[in-house]
Amino acid sequence: MKALLCEKYGPPKSLTYRDIEDPRMDDNLVLVDIYSASVNFPDVLMIEDKYQFKPQLPFAPGGEASGVITETGKNISDLKKGDRVIVSSGFGAFAEKIAVDRGAITTIPDTMSHDIAAAFLMTYGTSHYALKDRAKIQAGETLFVLGAAGGVGLAAIEIGKAMGAEVIAAASSEEKLSICKDHGADKTLLYSTGKMERDEQKKFSDRIKELTDGKGADVVYDPVGGDYAEPSLRATAWEGRYLVIGFAAGDIPKIPLNLSLLKGCQIVGVFWGAFRGRSPEAHNKNVKELMEMFEKGLLRPHISSTYPLKEGYKAIEDLAHRKAKGKVIVQVKV
Ligand SMILES: NC(=O)c1ccc[n+]([C@@H]2O[C@H](COP(=O)([O-])OP(=O)(O)OC[C@H]3O[C@@H](n4cnc5c(N)ncnc54)[C@H](OP(=O)(O)O)[C@@H]3O)[C@@H](O)[C@H]2O)c1
Repeated sequence: MKALLCEKYGPPKSLTYRDIEDPRMDDNLVLVDIYSASVNFPDVLMIEDKYQFKPQLPFAPGGEASGVITETGKNISDLKKGDRVIVSSGFGAFAEKIAVDRGAITTIPDTMSHDIAAAFLMTYGTSHYALKDRAKIQAGETLFVLGAAGGVGLAAIEIGKAMGAEVIAAASSEEKLSICKDHGADKTLLYSTGKMERDEQKKFSDRIKELTDGKGADVVYDPVGGDYAEPSLRATAWEGRYLVIGFAAGDIPKIPLNLSLLKGCQIVGVFWGAFRGRSPEAHNKNVKELMEMFEKGLLRPHISSTYPLKEGYKAIEDLAHRKAKGKVIVQVKV
């Protein structure tokens, strides 16, 4: 089969497209023909050896895909050949086939295309778990989303709206903010891409407070970190929740803990992959809710670009260079 491989750590351009052996099956695995794969931020880090989880070289990146089951191991009784599924593999999805454990498979409704399915679960799963289970967001509360036009950011806007929150979207360009509005953001805030000095951080914080009538945001959703984190925490409301989602800006912020005391607010960690592994029943319930929201038309994954497998490195470049809006898809079988 064909695959796009990381044979040595380096930038996306160093990935190689070549033939490799088909995956080996066993009684506990499910074999899937991949149709579409999506890029998530860990792909950017993994190929450069900057991610906490390190697959053995050579490996195909691609943590998530959609496809059709072609074979099930003897010990798998609830799936069959021909089922359309999402595969949450962690890596290995930039390839024509993949063999995974039962736990990595989620069946999808007929109304969901393969591109949309590949774009769906990690972003919407993370934002849904973050807002519902971790922040326990309530209708009428304000939600401030950083990196709001990114994969998890746009999903947070749509889920926040579906849960009745007032959503303020922050991003680095007017084009990105316009997409946030299309996906339901009530208000927007433009920030610069460069280093944010102290006085700019203060202005940023003040602007969030203005947009929340001086109160601050009840829930802050932060997948970016870097210089944006502290001013956003400073603009969190009394008894608010600050969700630590990720560090796309690269730097892991160091936060003065007195801010949490003064605001009576919670700094809440969110690790969707670990939640999925530790609480499979709660995860399955969440997936069911998400699929229902999708079927009702409340969730509309946005795909900014698609690339063929051979050019899949460009998909990772889009995320690395801050060009992606919503999701970027690698089409394996067209
Ligand atoms: N905690 C969890 O369970 C979980 C699950 C999924 C993802 N995540 C994390 O969430 C973060 C976002 O993931 P994603 O897949 O949504 O990525 P994404 O689509 O690339 O979105 C990230 C956003 O971060 C902003 N950003 C700021 N500085 C950046 C930089 N130097 N390089 C790239 N982007 C930068 C960009 O928006 P602007 O240009 O508008 O600033 C971009 O849209 C990642 O850190 C990822 O690991 C965590």
